[in-house]
Amino acid sequence: MEPERPNYGAIMVHLKKPYWVFLILLFTFVAVLTFQISTKDILPFQFFGVTGSRKTSVTSGSDPVPDPGSCAGLLGEFPERKHVMSIKEFGGVGDGKTSNTAAFWKAIVHMQRLSNKGGGQLNVPKGKWLTGSFNLTSNFTLFLEDGAVILGSQDPKEWPVVEPLPSYGRGRERLGGRHISLIHGDGLTNVVITGQNGTIDGQGGMWWDLWQNRRLTHTRGHLVELMNSHNILISNLTFRNSPFWTIHPIYCSNVVIKGMTILAPLNAPNTDGIDPDSSTNVCIEDCYIESGDDLVAVKSGWDQYGIRVARPSSNIIVRRISGTTPTCSGVGIGSEMSGGISNVIIEDMNIWNSAAGVRIKTDKGRGGYIANITIKNITMERVKIPIMFSRGANDHPDYGWDPKAIPKIKGIFISNIMSLNSTKAPILAGIKGGSFEGLCFKNVTLLGLAPTAAWHCEFVSGCTNAVFPLPCPQLQNNGSSACCI
Ligand SMILES: *[C@@H]1O[C@H](CO)[C@@H](O)[C@H](O)[C@H]1NC(C)=O
Ligand SMILES: *[C@@H]1O[C@H](CO)[C@@H](O)[C@H](O)[C@H]1NC(C)=O
Ligand SMILES: *[C@@H]1O[C@H](CO)[C@@H](O)[C@H](O)[C@H]1NC(C)=O
Ligand SMILES: *[C@@H]1O[C@H](CO)[C@@H](O)[C@H](O)[C@H]1NC(C)=O
Ligand SMILES: *[C@@H]1O[C@H](CO)[C@@H](O)[C@H](O)[C@H]1NC(C)=O
Ligand SMILES: *[C@@H]1O[C@H](CO)[C@@H](O)[C@H](O)[C@H]1NC(C)=O
Ligand SMILES: *[C@@H]1O[C@H](CO)[C@@H](O)[C@H](O)[C@H]1NC(C)=O
Ligand SMILES: *[C@@H]1O[C@H](CO)[C@@H](O)[C@H](O)[C@H]1NC(C)=O
Ligand SMILES: *[C@@H]1O[C@H](CO)[C@@H](O)[C@H](O)[C@H]1NC(C)=O
Repeated sequence: MEPERPNYGAIMVHLKKPYWVFLILLFTFVAVLTFQISTKDILPFQFFGVTGSRKTSVTSGSDPVPDPGSCAGLLGEFPERKHVMSIKEFGGVGDGKTSNTAAFWKAIVHMQRLSNKGGGQLNVPKGKWLTGSFNLTSNFTLFLEDGAVILGSQDPKEWPVVEPLPSYGRGRERLGGRHISLIHGDGLTNVVITGQNGTIDGQGGMWWDLWQNRRLTHTRGHLVELMNSHNILISNLTFRNSPFWTIHPIYCSNVVIKGMTILAPLNAPNTDGIDPDSSTNVCIEDCYIESGDDLVAVKSGWDQYGIRVARPSSNIIVRRISGTTPTCSGVGIGSEMSGGISNVIIEDMNIWNSAAGVRIKTDKGRGGYIANITIKNITMERVKIPIMFSRGANDHPDYGWDPKAIPKIKGIFISNIMSLNSTKAPILAGIKGGSFEGLCFKNVTLLGLAPTAAWHCEFVSGCTNAVFPLPCPQLQNNGSSACCI
């Protein structure tokens, strides 16, 4: 995929003297340029300044050229918030027992009035701030100071039931509406959730029990969900114990999630880390995630509802994420992908003690597509199935799904994978009548397998180049050189 480097030595042999001089000058020029660029790169990026600063930026300020290895450039600089207030000014009490729901609501109503008057920042100081669900507003920063912990209410009524998402048609777990997320936003622009590694703890145990005991009446809420929103930054915080998926941007664009620690018990059901859903221009980097479900899962709606809404996820970058999930995968695409998923780059990940490394999940009835997905430089240790493409678990919203809606999977490029102490060779199961096409595996080394371990392939086609163990026949190039480029 990368362009061949020109062989300068060979070029020079063919050139006569005047060109030599010119080339040396050119080389000096290029070298100086390179040096300047590399010194710029090591300058620390200014995301926001010191303690309680109001200025937040995802660019390096003076440098208009975005660093290709960073989410910088996607959002630009957030203007300084003119008004900075503390939750205490709205009657908040950080004793871990007093409910702060009313204080957060009051604060937000106030901040909403400031959103076209220079914007507001709500600081949450050190302490434990118990609260029910609250909404964010535009041109707004929620800032958790060092030692600040927001605790999710243990009263389900404080997580009111809202409409299902149009692209899901119903709650993901139960028919009808779903509990709202602890921190929610709909139709917002220019929102920042950040701080000095403060914590938002959903105290999800109550919800996991309801789910496991089959006493849940409505789908569990997320920890943070933003809908129909643009220019979002979530950074430098610790999120714990989400009842359900932890961060869920849906129908959003220009979202950066960076420097987060996301933790849930390894057996807590469906506590996905970050699930970009029907969203575009999403950049997720430098996060540590351990949880009871996929660390990152890219989605775009469920069966006939997702097909009808037709909101794809595209231009998604996921990089430098590390973590573990013993029953699920490091990075997942799907299984809900009915609005289509394309132009995704997943790179520089480190995954250990997990059931799967990279997993693409889809099914009959999903419709939609998964196209142009690049996954590279992933290291895994003790991951059972490093690479898995699977069709269905018969997981449909209702009887209205269309068995003729076969998803199209095309153009999946997987390279530079090293897996130590893996248990199984890749499992690649396409769909009858809907083969997964254009799969390319390059420089993939899976060690620790039993000598008899073999790739399992069904309804797939594509190529391999420098993979171990030997791939299935469907992916053998048989001498063709026009493969995997
Ligand atoms: C995260 O915190 C570090 C250290 O305080 C700071 O340098 C950086 O700008 C912050 N980044 C973001 C995106 O908030
Ligand atoms: C947010 O701030 C910008 C620029 O300051 C302003 O143009 C916009 O109207 C504000 N948005 C809202 C919802 O008030
Ligand atoms: C929060 O937003 C949701 C969805 O937009 C809405 O249903 C709910 O009433 C809002 N809650 C408050 C307290 O404003
Ligand atoms: C933030 O806090 C979490 C949980 O305590 C910790 O694991 C993580 O290392 C901290 N992150 C930073 C950048 O200090
Ligand atoms: C494939 O995805 C990458 C990364 O998003 C993008 O740069 C490239 O243009 C895409 N190619 C096509 C053909 O869409
Ligand atoms: C591969 O990813 C690791 C992080 O997991 C990173 O340290 C390393 O620089 C990456 N290698 C390349 C060639 O980008
Ligand atoms: C193959 O991938 C490994 C990482 O898994 C990397 O260190 C190595 O440089 C890659 N080799 C080539 C030729 O790209
Ligand atoms: C892999 O397994 C071998 C044998 O059990 C063990 O010695 C080694 O430490 C393991 N390596 C990793 C990276 O788990
Ligand atoms: C390569 O050859 C094997 C038989 O040796 C065949 O089954 C397979 O389909 C061929 N692969 C391609 C991509 O042509």
